Formats: sequence, C-alpha cells, structure tokens
Amino acid sequence: MNIIFLGAPGAGKGTHASRLKAEKGFPQISTGDMLRTNIAEGTPLGLSAKQFIDAGELVPDEVVIGMVRERLAEADAQNGFVLDGFPRTVAQAEALAGIARIDVVLNLEVTEDTVLKRLGGRRVCASCGAVFHTSRLEDESVCPLCGGKLIQRADDAPGTILHRLEVYHEQTEPLIAHYAQAGLLKNVWVDGDADENYRDILQALGI
Ligand code: AP5
Ligand code: MG
Repeated sequence: MNIIFLGAPGAGKGTHASRLKAEKGFPQISTGDMLRTNIAEGTPLGLSAKQFIDAGELVPDEVVIGMVRERLAEADAQNGFVLDGFPRTVAQAEALAGIARIDVVLNLEVTEDTVLKRLGGRRVCASCGAVFHTSRLEDESVCPLCGGKLIQRADDAPGTILHRLEVYHEQTEPLIAHYAQAGLLKNVWVDGDADENYRDILQALGI
C-alpha cells in the first residue's frame, strides 16, 4: 500500500510513520529527514536547502521532487511506502501522480494549540535520530535509547513554528481538497494520546 501522511507541522507524521516502519515494515520516506541528512553531510543540495528550512519556508519544488523521484525508484519502495511530509504543494502532488500510484492519503488533524505544545517540547537525538517530547523524558538532554545528545531542531524556535504553520495553511492545506476530490482522502483526528492515535491510523488504513 502506498500511503501519504498529510498534516500540519507537529501533527505526528514522523512519529507514526516511524512506528509503521518498525512494526509493519513500510519504508518511511520523510523529505524533512532527507533534507536534514543532506545538511548534516554538507552536500550541495543540503547547502541550498538549509536557508529555507531554518527560515520555516518550503524548499523549492524541483529540489524535493527530484529527491523523491530517486528515492521511490529504490528497491524497498516497490512494495509500499509512507510519504511523510511530501507532497506539500499542488505542484508536488501533480508531479507525484506521474511517479507513483497512491492508494490512500491520511489527513492527520490536530488543533494549533497542540501543535505549539508538541513542537515546543520536541527533542531529537543527534546520534540515532529518535524523536521525543520533554513531557516523557526524565533527562531532557540525553537520549534514553542510545545515550546520545538530545537537541532541539533549529526550526522549532517559537517564531519559526508560527511561520511554518502559515506556510502550511497557504501552500499545503489545499492538498486536502485536492486528494478529497481524487477520492483518496481519509481524515484521522490525532490530537490525543499517541498510542490511541496510532490505533486509529491502523484502523483507517485497514491493517
Ligand atoms: P518536516 O521535517 O517534514 O517538518 P514538518 O512538516 O514541519 O513536520 P514536523 O516534522 O515538525 O512534525 P511531525 O508531523 O513529523 O511531528 P512529530 O511526529 O515529529 O520538514 C521540515 C522542513 O523541511 C520544512 O519546513 C521545509 O523547509 C522542508 N521540507 C520538507 N519536506 C518538504 C517538501 N515536500 N517540500 C518543500 N520543503 C520541504 O511530532 C511532534 C512532537 O509531538 C514530537 O516531540 C512527538 O514526540 C510529540 N507528540 C506528542 N503527542 C503526540 C501524539 N499523540 N502523536 C504524535 N506525536 C506526539
Ligand atoms: Mg516530521
């Protein structure tokens, strides 16, 4: 099954996509993670993307479309995948339609208040990449999985979070109507407990 996770920053796209990968084997294709890896490795793509990400702007369509086209051609993506954070513009959705068949689009719905709480408390392990929330951490600076250093994403600064939400409303929200019209959209309310939200996602996917 080829799945898209659509949703505002902080909706839980990454959290639930990585669990689906661990428990059901779906490759998690996160354009945000791929861009951050490019930045960490200092590639030309990473260098050009960094200014957009740090400012909470979208990276230009042609850059992310090219990246996803290459990733979806890899062997592990031929038997299903979860797209986490792509497409984010109508132009990206139109390009994707020429690259892969999409079976279902889950629109993960949260309130803006929840987004602000989640992103304000998000911590990411600099070594293994695992994502946590301060409300569930005993020590906010040490990864409970590998002992690595927990850091805050540069774009999780309060002003940048608000701008990312504006960008989401302007450029990504139109995809809800786009995929509803295509008959692919399912809404899932994910404002509460992560385990409950995950169960609702499995139910919506019928797995
Ligand atoms: P990206 O990394 O995709 O960021 P985003 O869409 O802003 O989404 P987030 O990763 O912030 O949120 P999430 O929904 O994954 O939430 P998470 O699971 O972490 O993109 C970053 C940037 O890259 C973009 O701004 C843009 O510049 C660029 N980019 C990426 N893709 C692009 C594209 N296609 N086109 C152009 N540019 C692109 O959860 C958040 C927190 O909540 C965590 O701490 C989690 O532990 C916690 N939490 C608490 N309760 C729950 C719960 N019930 N469910 C899930 N998580 C919970
Ligand atoms: Mg994410």
